[in-house]
Amino acid sequence: PPGAQQFIPPQAGTLAELRTAAAGCRGCELHRDATQTVFGRGDEHGRVVFVGEQPGDLEDQHGLPFVGPAGRLLRRAVDDAGLDPAHLYITNAVKHFRHELRGRRRIHQTPDRVHIVACRPWLVAEFARLRPELVVVLGATAAKALLGPAFRVTRQRGELLPWPAAAEHPADFTRVPVDAGTVAAAPAARLLATIHPSAVLRADNQDVAYRGLVDDLTVAARALT
Ligand code: URA
Ligand code: SF4
Repeated sequence: PPGAQQFIPPQAGTLAELRTAAAGCRGCELHRDATQTVFGRGDEHGRVVFVGEQPGDLEDQHGLPFVGPAGRLLRRAVDDAGLDPAHLYITNAVKHFRHELRGRRRIHQTPDRVHIVACRPWLVAEFARLRPELVVVLGATAAKALLGPAFRVTRQRGELLPWPAAAEHPADFTRVPVDAGTVAAAPAARLLATIHPSAVLRADNQDVAYRGLVDDLTVAARALT
């Protein structure tokens, strides 16, 4: 199946309409083994959009992004950084849970480039409606979707970057068909990449990793004042 584009309603109106359409997406094979599409949610008029990787096990079951342990940690970090958790919209680069079965356990698998590319039209469509001033990219998968494969989160995390040219020209860094559109942010939007909250949960020293995440998000919070 050649990506999500064919499932996006022409001239889609609201985010609610997009969410409804996304529920029926068959743009890549990930829908087959997942429970449901997990679309973005949050304040549709906020200034900040967070982009994660893909739903996890709990998100897949509940149909909502960041409701599991990574989400709990992220909300705490957002709060500690001085961002208003009530005025965020949060979504994922890939909207179905990619996993493999080991016995009865569903083990997270990082989405491949084909999944990121296939799902990108939903992200583009969300951005076109949200027009955020600031985009917070959580981890490598979201960075690939918005900044291309050459971007290294570890090298450029915590830096306030101008809205990337790469995001405006997806054909430059992916084989996304041009009709997949460009990611539209507000004029003079900025972007900040940081580590994924799951990386904090996996870190040898969780305190240090957590503080690093909060430090990065503090840069984001200051950028908004
Ligand atoms: N990790 C993500 O990237 N997204 C979620 O929604 C949950 C965990
Ligand atoms: Fe569609 Fe994205 Fe789900 Fe693939 S992962 S089926 S492109 S919503």
